[in-house]
Amino acid sequence: MTKYLDDLPVPSSEDRVLYDLIFGRHALPVVALAQEMRLFENLSDQPRDLDEIAETLRVAPRAAEALVAVGASLGFLERGADGCFRTTALSRTYLLPESPFYYGPILSSDDPSLDQLRRSVRDGDGPVQPFAVEMSSLSPEEVRGFLSRMHARSLPAASALAEQEIFRRIGTVLDVGAGSGALACAIAKKNPGIRCTAMDLDPVCAIARENVEAFGLEARVEVIVANMFEDPWPKGHDAILFGNIFHDWDAESCARLATRSFQALESGGCILLHEVPIKETKDGPPLAAYFSVAMLLHEKGKQYSLSELEKILMEAGFIDFNSTPTFGYYQLISASKP
Ligand SMILES: C[S@@+](CC[C@H](N)C(=O)[O-])C[C@H]1O[C@@H](n2cnc3c(N)ncnc32)[C@H](O)[C@@H]1O
Repeated sequence: MTKYLDDLPVPSSEDRVLYDLIFGRHALPVVALAQEMRLFENLSDQPRDLDEIAETLRVAPRAAEALVAVGASLGFLERGADGCFRTTALSRTYLLPESPFYYGPILSSDDPSLDQLRRSVRDGDGPVQPFAVEMSSLSPEEVRGFLSRMHARSLPAASALAEQEIFRRIGTVLDVGAGSGALACAIAKKNPGIRCTAMDLDPVCAIARENVEAFGLEARVEVIVANMFEDPWPKGHDAILFGNIFHDWDAESCARLATRSFQALESGGCILLHEVPIKETKDGPPLAAYFSVAMLLHEKGKQYSLSELEKILMEAGFIDFNSTPTFGYYQLISASKP
């Protein structure tokens, strides 16, 4: 067995640059599309809030949010105290057609990723290339490909998540939408007193079991097949964990997951989310903005702000909302059942 499977240290360097590289590739197509849709001209005429922008561009709210967050985090837009977004000197100089320094012709490329984004933003609110939200319809190769990408970018943060103080106080964790099992395995590996249940759809569980075996954790990580929206959940766990799950889904689906968690937990149990939140002002940080674009293309959600997540959890009945950074861009968000 390779060494990292034996001890799984927290990497000495964070992986932010890798996340920037992977998701930062959405920046150029977003700016190109925003200028194609005349977002900058529109906002230079009149600052608007996100609802007004969605209405003016005739796009779904999460699409407007993602376009504006990318534009703002690059410095092309700024948010006023009134919540309205306006152009900046940067965008007025380079992104308005009347400027002598207009970059428009360079941005209007025939890049296929621009076309994909165009379809996703303009043709409704469904993902153009779905992954997690339509896992059951993917081919076995696509499932394996998606999970190996997820595993690669989940394991570094999972190693740090597993060292959070909360895991010294609990005995059992249900990992919902566990994917490759990266989080459940890291938690069990680093906390010998913890037993985990990793729950996911059928084609995914076979791959999670391979990882559980590779970590030598068969005795403490059980992998079970269940549809998290439709099937009963196992009860009696001290904590229910969702790693990168809420950002896949719309707020209504997240609320269902929060309610199902509340029902499955005993009093004193807790819900844990491992997510990359966007700022309350929806103007950054850049990585969260790019991550939201990826959700637009591939899933049904977006990067939620902490207050949006808090609202979902509080409405399900949870109390004591908390968040703490874990590794790279990730935060552990927790709340408990009274
Ligand atoms: C973005 S991945 C996250 C995987 C893992 N939690 C991680 O952080 O690496 C989303 C996971 O949700 C799972 N999923 C999607 N729909 C599901 C459903 N209805 N029931 C259970 N799992 C589901 C997918 O199969 C996928 O493994």
